[in-house]
Amino acid sequence: MEVLNMEKAVAEVSKKGFLDVEVDPTLDLFAEIEKLKKEKNAILLAHYYQEPDIQDVADYIGDSLGLAQQAEKTNADIIVFAGVHFMAETAKILNPSKKVLLPDLNAGCSLADSAPPELFKAFKQKYPDHLVISYINCSAGIKALSDIICTSSNAEKIVESLPKDQKIIFAPDKNLGAYLVKKTGRDMVLWNGACMVHEIFSLEKITKLKQRHPNAKIIAHPECEEPILRIADHIGSTTGLLKYTQTDSATEYIVATETGILHQMQKESPHKTFIPAPPNNSCACNDCPHMKLNTLEKLYLCMKYETPEITMDEQLRLAAKKPIDRMLEISKQFGL
Ligand code: 13P
Ligand code: SF4
Repeated sequence: MEVLNMEKAVAEVSKKGFLDVEVDPTLDLFAEIEKLKKEKNAILLAHYYQEPDIQDVADYIGDSLGLAQQAEKTNADIIVFAGVHFMAETAKILNPSKKVLLPDLNAGCSLADSAPPELFKAFKQKYPDHLVISYINCSAGIKALSDIICTSSNAEKIVESLPKDQKIIFAPDKNLGAYLVKKTGRDMVLWNGACMVHEIFSLEKITKLKQRHPNAKIIAHPECEEPILRIADHIGSTTGLLKYTQTDSATEYIVATETGILHQMQKESPHKTFIPAPPNNSCACNDCPHMKLNTLEKLYLCMKYETPEITMDEQLRLAAKKPIDRMLEISKQFGL
């Protein structure tokens, strides 16, 4: 059972990236987490891809844009981020005086990993007259090399906010990039990165599923590959997809994104049916292995011992903040 002090906890985190101690199984973790939130003036921000228990105890659940906006404006002393590393890092970049906690530092992102800053810097040098728009799913190092950040909910507006003759590099997601090229008619240079979860969907299996559920609408995240997006009735960020299912008249949906979002869809529309789009193998690979590293136990431990904490080099933070600020400013202009 838990026998830690703050010092031991920090040492444990430096070895494994999270607190690997057994939690008393009789503890009511929901009540304990609520208590810790009050005691420490902490806010718990969670992404829709987190496990249902974490979503249920969160103060705010949202997409990447909503989470960044909440992190920027909060007055809490501690931001507990139930999401992946680039999201918690963005919170720290935007609100550096707060302590930002991530339950497991190993919660990375295959998309962010697909763009190492050194390689990207060399790539960028080949296009000196291009502006760089980077998807928020990237490291602070990539953000620092970018002119504007975007998320899936504002990407189209961000691209269109630039003059038509402005040459653009889009990184790191080639699928979102290709979708934006199609939507905006802009010919952008794309970095060759992708999300392991959104590339797993099987067109063949989704088509067969649709034959068995002819009234179901297919909804997809723009990180999916083009053949999946082509057959989708609606494409949007996680918040966009959730809102669509709340206002649309259909009662059945095939959902091509990470399965965590189904929890809120089902909660908001209990009378509707949501079917996870099948992946191209037999495992549940449309669960993000990074997002799902966070558990209720790790969340409780990280709040109790205030570690793992996100720390950043100040120069890197300032360089990474500029393009995020630009994104937030443009988003505000469009009421996003
Ligand atoms: P959004 O929630 O911003 O749509 O992003 C999805 C995603 O892949 C986050 O990692
Ligand atoms: Fe990264 Fe994809 Fe997981 Fe989102 S779902 S955190 S893009 S690996």
